[in-house]
Amino acid sequence: MSAQPIGVFDSGLGGLTAVKQLRSIMPHENIVYFGDTGRVPYGNRSVETIRKYAAQDANFLLSHNVKIVIAACGTVSSTASEMLSNMLPVPYTNVISPTARAAADATQNGKIGVIGTRATIMSGAYKKELERLDNSLQVFQKECPLFVPLVEEGFISPQDPIAKLTVERYLKVLKEQNVDTIILGCTHYPILKAVIGEYVGMDVKLIDSGKETAIHAAQMLAEKGLLNTQTEDGECEFFVSDRTEGFADIASLFLHSNIGENVSRVDIQHY
Ligand code: DGL
Repeated sequence: MSAQPIGVFDSGLGGLTAVKQLRSIMPHENIVYFGDTGRVPYGNRSVETIRKYAAQDANFLLSHNVKIVIAACGTVSSTASEMLSNMLPVPYTNVISPTARAAADATQNGKIGVIGTRATIMSGAYKKELERLDNSLQVFQKECPLFVPLVEEGFISPQDPIAKLTVERYLKVLKEQNVDTIILGCTHYPILKAVIGEYVGMDVKLIDSGKETAIHAAQMLAEKGLLNTQTEDGECEFFVSDRTEGFADIASLFLHSNIGENVSRVDIQHY
């Protein structure tokens, strides 16, 4: 049994989609979450900057004695994973392989769309992983740089005209290709699932990278004998690198539970 917490980080709020799933799959686990809200978004930055930020984020989680680090961020996963696996003394998972595997299993017509931040799409990480799994798959990629700010601002309702227009502008090309599965390759994007689903049609499967990664992390912990066997519910601690007030409100919406005062600010430059 390991009561050490699971460490999860993202550039902002998006990784909470993984936390929500972790809490539902493994309610007894303690979780430490770091959202780099002072430096979000990562997706338009250089690979060097993303790697520097990812190392600081992971070091912060290590300072909380985590038993596993989850990069719940498509951008970090696709550009900094090798560096993170090499530097971390604890197990590490990113979002790419579990999400690609779920999409390859889900598609019927072999046409998969991948949406993500500019850095994620430019890395080609999802495309490479999908083609490694099955080289007959046709993969169509589309960067959607405005989706992260939409989510961070809470413009997420299917009735929101700005959200609807932005989704249509980016996803038209995937609709025209007749994809039957879309990887939501950024952990912010599941928050826009309702708007996206309405536009592409409910028969298109939307693969949630936060959810698939949480399932994968649970398997990793079980295999390594690191699950927490306590019977009471685990504690969640939240940390951000900027204002705590707005975060608590939006995070409570994402997690469907009130995180209240349980969020603190850290100076991430020190890690
Ligand atoms: N949730 C992050 C991701 O999955 C957001 C990226 C960003 O900060 O631009 O890519």
